[in-house]
Amino acid sequence: MSHQPAAFPHARLRRTRKSAAIRGLVRENALSVEDLIWPVFVRDGEGVEEPIPSMPGVMRRSVDKIVDAAREAAELGIPAICIFPYTDASLKTQDCAEAWNPENLSNRAIRAIKAAVPEIAIMTDIALDPYNINGHDGIVVDGEIMNDETVEALVKMAIAQCEAGADILGPSDMMDGRIGAIRAKIEAEGHKNVAILSYSAKYASAFYGPFRDAVGASGALKGDKATYQMDPANSDEALRLVARDLDEGADMVMVKPGMPYLDICRRVKDQFGVPTFAYQVSGEYAMIMGAAQNGWIDGDKAMLESLMAFKRAGCDGILTYFAPAVARHLNQQ
Ligand code: PBG
Repeated sequence: MSHQPAAFPHARLRRTRKSAAIRGLVRENALSVEDLIWPVFVRDGEGVEEPIPSMPGVMRRSVDKIVDAAREAAELGIPAICIFPYTDASLKTQDCAEAWNPENLSNRAIRAIKAAVPEIAIMTDIALDPYNINGHDGIVVDGEIMNDETVEALVKMAIAQCEAGADILGPSDMMDGRIGAIRAKIEAEGHKNVAILSYSAKYASAFYGPFRDAVGASGALKGDKATYQMDPANSDEALRLVARDLDEGADMVMVKPGMPYLDICRRVKDQFGVPTFAYQVSGEYAMIMGAAQNGWIDGDKAMLESLMAFKRAGCDGILTYFAPAVARHLNQQ
């Protein structure tokens, strides 16, 4: 900002807000369908679409229905879909071996989408929580989340996802060293063009509650995730994490949750200038939908405003459960 502020009435800032036409001319940011990644939940069965009570409008879908959803998303112009599995309790173990089973729910969904809707990019989640008897993102031994043992498991998981056809890996576990280990192994195995979108600055947040219901991890989780996810009081630490993940081979980085952490988005974008994403998480979605359903806010307007805020904060894209709704809205304009 080189210009010195002029005084009233020379400067009437309302002049550029006078009409929709002039507001459009001076608008600084835009939200586009191309900015969206749609997180979806996959479950077993066929022809199943099961509502998730704490996330109104969001379903757990069987693989065939996920394919339909991916097709619909592609038709709306949504560039990417992100798969989260709802794993049956009988498949959760101490060693989390289901996580790297080539035939697990998530890998079957990746294959099915790849075959039917090749134009949509498929993002995965790399963390052990859907497969862990403890509900934690890492392997637990005597109450401790084991970093290095977990990284080994995550690498196996990443390879299985690459072989299934994943385009973007999303390590969301917050173990140290996982980006470097995954990058080295996928490079060695010939998956050179698989991108990594690291959940670099992921906070230990109360806003993940509805998601844990959605993937069936709420009941399993013992304690909290504070020894691996970030302290909500910290900001400089987020920059260290992003620097480290980029150094280890991440192509894109994420801040999570979204709306309470817009300051972090801005700092990351300003400091690194790399593709920066925010995850508008389940609790943020539930708050907007819950208030809207009660008639306390205008849901559509709150959705659009909340997503525009990410663009203003410097994000290149947003993971949001609103993706199809907002795409429909933007396509109508
Ligand atoms: C787990 C994971 C979580 C989310 C994405 N991956 C939950 C957690 O860390 O407990 C949260 C997403 C959301 O709340 O929408 N690895």
